[in-house]
Amino acid sequence: MKDFKIWMNGKLVTQAEAVLPVNSAAVFYATNVFEGIRAYWNEAEGELYCFRLAEHFARFRESMKMMRFTVPYQDLDLYDAVRDMLRGNEVREDVHMHLVGYVAGPGLDATSPSGLYINPRRRARVEGGNGLKACVSSWQRTHDNAIPIRLKCGANYQNGRLATLQAKADGYDSPIFLNQQGTVAEGTGATFFMVRRGKLVTPPVTSDILESITRTTLIESLGPNLGMDVVEREIARTELYVADEAFFCGSGYEITPIVSIDRFPVGDGKVGPITQRLSTAYMNVVRGIDQRFPEWRTPVYKPVTV
Ligand SMILES: Cc1ncc(COP(=O)(O)O)c(C=O)c1O
Repeated sequence: MKDFKIWMNGKLVTQAEAVLPVNSAAVFYATNVFEGIRAYWNEAEGELYCFRLAEHFARFRESMKMMRFTVPYQDLDLYDAVRDMLRGNEVREDVHMHLVGYVAGPGLDATSPSGLYINPRRRARVEGGNGLKACVSSWQRTHDNAIPIRLKCGANYQNGRLATLQAKADGYDSPIFLNQQGTVAEGTGATFFMVRRGKLVTPPVTSDILESITRTTLIESLGPNLGMDVVEREIARTELYVADEAFFCGSGYEITPIVSIDRFPVGDGKVGPITQRLSTAYMNVVRGIDQRFPEWRTPVYKPVTV
């Protein structure tokens, strides 16, 4: 299987050629902002669809704003860069990519020069078809006044790394973070949802979470389409133990069921029916099998006006 090339500042280069200086803020302080985006291969149409690029680009700009740097590309350039990269690699399979804006200058307060790369990779679905065994982490989600999780920067993921390694050392698959108020925040790289008393419930955007694009997709469209009431509210820790269903969602995680939390079975300890239906609905939309919401799917091979 050949390695994909990386789009870096306007050129397709090999993995070995895509290098940054060790004294750059990007390498030393992880001064970067990024998006994790998936593109899905639709076999029947012979087309590759990128999911919700407009929303990823908007969030990318918000992250850069908070980090006080910009990259010298407009959104139209980003559409072209993503499509050029996928075409240049002749991608005809599902692919995950990191779109990364970085600061190449040295120093903690460096804001320039900045650059951009898009790194595609084959990424399997998160292990957890049969459901994850999650735990409430003893590590807290970083607070908005410390390192805001709304800001999608590489450095933030050290919080998730600590919690993931702890969860695995303790025999779980994945941690769930509480915030400093002690209510549920999210997973390491995913939004948390539960089903309780027939409603889909997820923490609000003020609970120290990333403003997830998958979360919006479920709240505004896929949940209501399945006839579900969706509620954004704080979730107390003990509600996790009596939830009927629970799952993580995200561009990377898609819809990944959770079957136990702190060894309490979620519902009957099997993947719940609502989770299953949402997962099927989500996968059909992202791949374009369900042809509604065409504005969410940017085709790579056919001409497109954005
Ligand atoms: C910390 C965190 N929360 C939630 C999510 C889910 O966000 P999205 O649905 O936009 O991929 C991600 C994934 O990017 C994440 O890294």
